[in-house]
Amino acid sequence: MIDIHSHILFGVDDGAKDYDESVEMLKAARKAGFDKIIATPHVRSPHYNKQKAQKALEELKPVAESLGIELIQGYEYNISALTDDTIEGAMQFCTEGTKTILLEMNGSQLVSNWERVVIHFQREGADVIIAHPERYPILYSKPDIVLRMLEVGCKLQVDIAVMLQKGLFNREKKFVKNLLKNNYVRWVSSDAHSAEDYKDFAEAFRKYADKRMCLADRNSYKELIK
Ligand SMILES: [Fe+2]
Repeated sequence: MIDIHSHILFGVDDGAKDYDESVEMLKAARKAGFDKIIATPHVRSPHYNKQKAQKALEELKPVAESLGIELIQGYEYNISALTDDTIEGAMQFCTEGTKTILLEMNGSQLVSNWERVVIHFQREGADVIIAHPERYPILYSKPDIVLRMLEVGCKLQVDIAVMLQKGLFNREKKFVKNLLKNNYVRWVSSDAHSAEDYKDFAEAFRKYADKRMCLADRNSYKELIK
């Protein structure tokens, strides 16, 4: 099982604070069933220290291996970072060894040019995964945008722990439920910022997801299948 969205690298964003917390997260991830983790620190504008992330990854690799986990360098690329990058330049933030990019949209609104951005990435050969569509409330009332994302070939990644939220009228949860019901979800991931998040992932995964949503296949991350 691959976790394609995790803030497991220490000292680079709002995820793990230090080496020890990263190790705690690795242990919890292993318990949740993962044997591959794509470490995806935030890339947002203003620009971002790639070397620091790579250094943390190298430091963690041996302990990850000893726990039976392969750590892979990736990024969560926020669309706002395109104020600093060209699309061509942003391709350096694809997952290591692949042309897959995890694309995060902006907060409560989707930038109006999301489709143009996706198509430009695709012209560079990228496979685009949209990070946690449930965090973009505008989509709750505009399902046509979700359909358009799928139509142009984006894959949707959901933070499945959202399903553990309480409240009958929780809109985020209702939205994810609908995505799952319609088979629109390609990836479920932890988006973990702590070991606790991996525990929540494990519980939600058991109740609401399907193992195929955490497996690479010939069309998704095929480069990562050994
Ligand atoms: Fe994230």
